[in-house]
Amino acid sequence: TPLSSLLNLEDFERSAEATLKPKSWAYYASAADDGWTAEQSKAIWQHVRFRPRVLRDVGGDVDLRVEIAGIESRLPFMVSPAAMGKLAHKDGELCIVKGAGRVGIPYAPSNHASVSHRDLASAAVPSQSLFFQLYVHRERWRSEKQLAEAKELGYKAVIVTVDVAVPGNRELDLRTGLDENTVLLANPGIEVGKKAFAMATTSATIDASLSWKDLDWVKKASGGLPVLVKGIHTVEDAVLAEQYGASGIFLSNHGGRQVNTASTPLEVLLEIRQSAPHLLASPSRFTVILDGGLRRGTDIVKALCLGAHACSLGRPFMYSLVYGEDGVEKVARVLEEEVVRCCKLLGVRSVKELRPQYVNARRVERA
Ligand code: FNR
Repeated sequence: TPLSSLLNLEDFERSAEATLKPKSWAYYASAADDGWTAEQSKAIWQHVRFRPRVLRDVGGDVDLRVEIAGIESRLPFMVSPAAMGKLAHKDGELCIVKGAGRVGIPYAPSNHASVSHRDLASAAVPSQSLFFQLYVHRERWRSEKQLAEAKELGYKAVIVTVDVAVPGNRELDLRTGLDENTVLLANPGIEVGKKAFAMATTSATIDASLSWKDLDWVKKASGGLPVLVKGIHTVEDAVLAEQYGASGIFLSNHGGRQVNTASTPLEVLLEIRQSAPHLLASPSRFTVILDGGLRRGTDIVKALCLGAHACSLGRPFMYSLVYGEDGVEKVARVLEEEVVRCCKLLGVRSVKELRPQYVNARRVERA
């Protein structure tokens, strides 16, 4: 399918499914157990209804800029970390760096990216923001070394992912048999035991003993970069993240790849609005990013209306890799157009004007 004929993110997904090798598709698409959380995180947006206002003079441009932990993004979303970009394109994550650079949005390459962070950093344009995603390694000195390198390479923030104490049960991967060779191909740098499986390979190094008090160590090792905690599923942990000094959080269930039947990110956002609204007061104080299940500009606008400071997407950008950096750029441009159109139809000229009164979320709140 030519890139020009793809109109929305669903088109990119279908195209990737048709093009990728079954094992690669399985790695990107898979979710935990029966995939309920992954599915529901997408489906729930339909239950939030818009309340568009009219006759508001929306003739000019729409200001889409947001702030993420003190860093500006030209659009109200960024690219989530996802491993093994080379399963879709020979240049892997380099295409995402270039595509994100063209549209002015931050990208957080995975700790397990299939391209070295040095190469990724050198592909970035000067104004571009890269964030370093960290899985804390059992041998802490390795993480310290990686964080020091991230700082040296000019990464602007650290995202510590905390929802992989153990790997999720991804049955599609097990069925298609993502094997050691595939993993090695995509991860030339990774250390693996002879018989290790994909999930085991990458996850075996993750420190399951990590706890809140270690956040201070992550902050110190990050050399003053803002640290965001990714994998927050409850208002209680959102509050703890702030108390332990994080600069922000990703409301994320890892794209439904870890705990199946965990809440959708939207439900967690609503919990926070209800019980700890001070966390949503200002992105410069504490940034709340909604990650997972976003497939339309309207989904992003709803998240912003309900208090998220920014959004983040994983799979859509991985699927777009089939078309290299042009595909990555196009996914971002499609979302940009959808957000602009939605803002004008709601009667706002800046995403900063988005407020809860532009939506009716009662169907989700009641559930
Ligand atoms: C991920 N995710 C992820 N997260 C992370 O912190 N480090 C990682 O290495 C990965 N790897 C990864 C691989 C693949 C193939 C997927 C699909 C996801 C989770 C990712 O950052 C993000 O939370 C989800 O992808 C968000 O859900 P959507 O946007 O895919 O629905």
